[in-house]
Amino acid sequence: MRDRPTLRAATRGRVLFGGDYNPEQWPEETWHDDVRLMKDAGVNSVTLGVFSWSMLEPEPGERNFGWLDRLMDLMHTNGVGVVLATPTSAPPPWLGRLHPDTLPRDENGNVEWWGGRQHFSHSSATYRRYAAAITEDLAARYAGHPALTMWHINNEYCTVDHGDEAAAAFRRWLRAKYGTLDALNEAWGTAFWSQGYDSWDGILPARRPHYLRNPTQLLDFRRFTSDMLLECYTAERDIVTRHTPHIPVTTNFMPLFFGQDAWRWAEEEDVVSVDLYPDPRDPLGPQHGALIQDLTRSQARGPWMLMEQAAGPVNWRGVNHPKPRGLNRLWSLQAVARGADAVCYFQWRQSRQGAEKFHSGMVSHAGEEGRTFQEVKQLGADLAAISPKVADRRVTADIAILHDWHAWWAGSQDGRPSTHVDHAAVLHAWHRALWEAHLPTDFAHPEHDLTAYRLVVVPQLYLLTDTAIDRLRAYVDGGGTLVSGFLTGVADEHDRVRAGGMDARLRELFGIRVLHEWWPLEPGESVDCDGFRGTLWSEEIEPDRETVTETIPYRGGELDGLPAVLRRGRAWYVSTLPEPDALRALLTRVAAEAGARPVLDGLPARVEAVRRGDLLFLLNHSREPVTVDVPGTHRDLLTGATVTDTVALGRYGAAVLEP
Ligand code: GLA
Repeated sequence: MRDRPTLRAATRGRVLFGGDYNPEQWPEETWHDDVRLMKDAGVNSVTLGVFSWSMLEPEPGERNFGWLDRLMDLMHTNGVGVVLATPTSAPPPWLGRLHPDTLPRDENGNVEWWGGRQHFSHSSATYRRYAAAITEDLAARYAGHPALTMWHINNEYCTVDHGDEAAAAFRRWLRAKYGTLDALNEAWGTAFWSQGYDSWDGILPARRPHYLRNPTQLLDFRRFTSDMLLECYTAERDIVTRHTPHIPVTTNFMPLFFGQDAWRWAEEEDVVSVDLYPDPRDPLGPQHGALIQDLTRSQARGPWMLMEQAAGPVNWRGVNHPKPRGLNRLWSLQAVARGADAVCYFQWRQSRQGAEKFHSGMVSHAGEEGRTFQEVKQLGADLAAISPKVADRRVTADIAILHDWHAWWAGSQDGRPSTHVDHAAVLHAWHRALWEAHLPTDFAHPEHDLTAYRLVVVPQLYLLTDTAIDRLRAYVDGGGTLVSGFLTGVADEHDRVRAGGMDARLRELFGIRVLHEWWPLEPGESVDCDGFRGTLWSEEIEPDRETVTETIPYRGGELDGLPAVLRRGRAWYVSTLPEPDALRALLTRVAAEAGARPVLDGLPARVEAVRRGDLLFLLNHSREPVTVDVPGTHRDLLTGATVTDTVALGRYGAAVLEP
């Protein structure tokens, strides 16, 4: 086992600043202009080679490294470190043409052709062989290059494959998991609808059936897909680390991406990195950003890397809004506040051709005079100013929000009580309540050790393993406070509904005697509760009057008088989704009782406060200037000014206060 290098091996105590650099799209004269502008903006890191496979290997087995040699040298000469990518997310057209077995198939069996990107089958032996070969040669060639600071494997792993080679791999995966067909039939509940398997060869990946799929088959297929992509990653990782054990390795996650068990993946990375694109028009954009940043920091268990963001508009929403003046800087500082040691972009120079030519770059089509680049320069100076201070400071939280991909996958099947219950939206709603209350949050997996937290919040974990349930009970028995939302603890790891509709140990924990029925609500419908309105969902619960210590009842309607919220000591259960103000009020109260404190009291609306060590980041997410009370004397690292008792923040303004 190698000693894992950390992000610090690449940052050397600075905040990395830069982005994906795709110079192969430009004539070499432009490279020199790029370097001039990078220096001007304080760029100290670029990611090269993400989509360069056809440049590096124009024909099968041929190698064309000359252009990359020149770039690596150019970057090094100019003090810019290189995060070098393996190019395996965009195979060259010849691979698909000569080896159609490398192409993935959708659930209908249709081929996903070349002409875009990510057209590879994770299970294809041919793809894996070619990917390993180019990775091997790349790693051997640049292992000793002084510009190399980090490896970036592939890009946003996400392909799903239903083809024949994937089917064979799925069967192998299932054999390893279940051992016997009897065990598989039992776990999948194949007695339902005559699905009993008499042969492994009869098992398919989750191809499209006539009507609803077997949900456990689908759950296992999602687990398998995540595992197969992870195998592709670890195969390339193992090649590069053989050449450069001291260089950290990452692969970039999409934010809260459905298809990857990111807890599991993060264990295999030296550096956890994420791509983050909140919508500039979305009033909750900064909360989405905070959620992804909290989640990524928790997966990294420390400093993490913002691998990609947009300096301006993206090109993949229906309407793609630019970032108003100041917003790029503000959201970048937000990432640093929440633990990022790298602020990077897709991409350095906006393309003039190709599918993403209307996606912004750090140097936009408007060029160096353009507002985008001018703001990038400003940000580069800001990051340089705070860099020496942030590197050794960590973000800490007393509250953990639990999230698990397996629960998300299992809960997202067809044929469920309400298709309007969206796991990610529920997670956002609960995080929002805590974010708006300025209560710092980590994320954790339900089987993690939770004892360090004062409060554990479960927005929704439809599936919980026995181990996780025991953890939650032990956590409360040990003095922790737990708040759980609805549709939690319903199913076991095979998506079998637990007796009573919710695990008996959890019902006991929350003081639920009988869970009679779920009463999902229509979109826009609400249900009155004492003091607030519930949305999305409600439940017909008979509390255990012997043990419950507090209830907040439903008012009116079919559930009149039954508990919407019930509590047994330090364990709370919320059987609806309270409106945002109500959920915030409830969690603020529970957090206070548990001893979890907000970062600051009395903040103006839309001002976010985050502590990274003893640095206080204040972020104004509005266009209105505000004044924030900050008792005492501080130094603002962004301006160098001394601040006493109050600090003024302009539109989208920020301060980084050192005591
Ligand atoms: C992702 C990808 C990039 C690019 C951007 C566009 O982050 O990794 O290659 O496509 O999206 O937003």
